[in-house]
Amino acid sequence: MTLITSPVFVPEARLQQAGSFAALFGNDRPLCLEVGCGIGDFIVQLASRHPERNFIAIDIFNQGCRQTSSRVEDAGLTNIIVMRMEARFLMHHHLGAESLQAIYINCPDPWPKKRHRKRRLLNQEFLNLALYCLKPDGELHFATDFVDYGETAGELLAGDARFYNLHSTPHTHELGDYPISKYMRRFLDQGQPIYFCHYRKKPGLKLAPPKLHKGFRLRWSQEEPA
Ligand SMILES: C[S@@+](CC[C@H](N)C(=O)[O-])C[C@H]1O[C@@H](n2cnc3c(N)ncnc32)[C@H](O)[C@@H]1O
Repeated sequence: MTLITSPVFVPEARLQQAGSFAALFGNDRPLCLEVGCGIGDFIVQLASRHPERNFIAIDIFNQGCRQTSSRVEDAGLTNIIVMRMEARFLMHHHLGAESLQAIYINCPDPWPKKRHRKRRLLNQEFLNLALYCLKPDGELHFATDFVDYGETAGELLAGDARFYNLHSTPHTHELGDYPISKYMRRFLDQGQPIYFCHYRKKPGLKLAPPKLHKGFRLRWSQEEPA
């Protein structure tokens, strides 16, 4: 495993030392999260467009974190930090209630085999956690190339009265000016549509902290030794 020495890469211990994301960034601009940043091309496009916001890009794979960190450094952006962290662990242990302005999930692992579908990131349990972490009017973006995942995500989101749908159908293939990630580009170039969901949390909700199922991949919470 390559040791990531980039200053934009933040090990969990450094976050704990700093005490908060605002302390790490040196300001308290609205905080957004990308789950599964891959090589970091999406977050660099997004954060360049939004210097008024701060972004946390996470991935469970070291190589992705390394590539994302170099991309962020090359782009000279100071509003992104990269962490090797499992999404639910980070949200539960380090983010918490009404901490996020937006969550972005692009082409998450589709787990195509029926018996593996329970491993998918987006399910009702994740939505409960996302709603808890989002600020009132905070937004959830979800994009996948995988038909069954896109349809299920759209149905779950559209069926949850705590969200407004920002489109007229549970999912759409219209991406507007949404930045295109590496995986999205690959599928679009093959002529496959992207299933896109864009929802906003309704204001005025008082949500209790959701219980976290100690499920698949939570063990990725810890930094591995160099
Ligand atoms: C198929 S890739 C997509 C990468 C990128 N989002 C894109 O669209 O090009 C999925 C990424 O999500 C990461 N990932 C999967 N489950 C995760 C989780 N629970 N928390 C954080 N990252 C996760 C994987 O390591 C992988 O890099």
